[in-house]
Amino acid sequence: MAKLAGRVAVVTGGGSGIGRAIARSFAAEGARVAVADINGEVAGRVAGEIQAAGGTALGVPTDVADSAQVDRLFTLVAERWGSVHVLSNNAGIADLSPTLRAHVDEVVADMLGGGPRRSLGVTSGLGDAEWRRMLEIHLFGTFYCTRAALRLMEQAGGGAIVNMASVAGLSGIPGLPHYGAAKAGIIGFTKSVALEVGTANIRVNAIAPGLIDTPMTADLPPMFRQMTVLRTPLGRPGTPEEIAAVALFLVSDEASFLTGQVVSPNGGYHT
Ligand SMILES: NC(=O)c1ccc[n+]([C@@H]2O[C@H](COP(=O)([O-])OP(=O)(O)OC[C@H]3O[C@@H](n4cnc5c(N)ncnc54)[C@H](O)[C@@H]3O)[C@@H](O)[C@H]2O)c1
Repeated sequence: MAKLAGRVAVVTGGGSGIGRAIARSFAAEGARVAVADINGEVAGRVAGEIQAAGGTALGVPTDVADSAQVDRLFTLVAERWGSVHVLSNNAGIADLSPTLRAHVDEVVADMLGGGPRRSLGVTSGLGDAEWRRMLEIHLFGTFYCTRAALRLMEQAGGGAIVNMASVAGLSGIPGLPHYGAAKAGIIGFTKSVALEVGTANIRVNAIAPGLIDTPMTADLPPMFRQMTVLRTPLGRPGTPEEIAAVALFLVSDEASFLTGQVVSPNGGYHT
């Protein structure tokens, strides 16, 4: 019996990387999957891949930072397939503005070349808009989608939500203070909502991956990547499929006694 037979799932950021792998694995286990992504083209492409493999999927262009778009997404899915039983809050960004990125590269190169030790100078140079957009996509987006999903799950009498955090939310990350704050916020939100909705048979957990090979990490500075791999006992980045396997477990009935937890597939980088 497929693990998600009869269920309807929404996967945000499902057009690329980890979200794509999650959408494909949920569909392979029998779920009908709404692939939501700010990039409608990639959402449609992943929905097409799922259909080509014999699954049921729908690509829905959605900016998770816009609550009206999120509400439209869930209305559309509920009209099409009756309800939503599974939500993967995964959409995200991890970039710095080109100016700040160039500044960090310059400071690091200078210190490596024997220059004076100093701050990376990201927080002191971060603009309001850059801070806000990061929080709006990750933390507000997770809230907007969770709120819309809970309205359906509370009515239906159950459900499972898995939120994408990061080791950055557990131990911090140099040069991405807004990302670290957003991911730590997602962990706090996960635990609080889990405590709130467990009595309604709804489970809420988070995944905090270490470094994973996806388009998001493809242009990391090579030194940052090498240092991270060196610090990782298993000696390599993870794959999107390794994270999707954890997501599938957490939303399936195999994890029926798990809620409010943070599972961190990170190769031993953070223990
Ligand atoms: N790759 C890693 O090393 C890593 C590690 C820990 C956590 N994560 C988290 O995993 C999640 C997926 O990352 P990934 O590595 O697969 O990245 P990715 O760039 O491959 O995919 C992210 C997807 O999210 C979409 N997206 C961005 N902003 C959006 C918005 N406002 N609304 C809807 N969709 C939006 C993008 O279009 C893209 O398709 C993110 O939350 C990321 O922070 C990634």
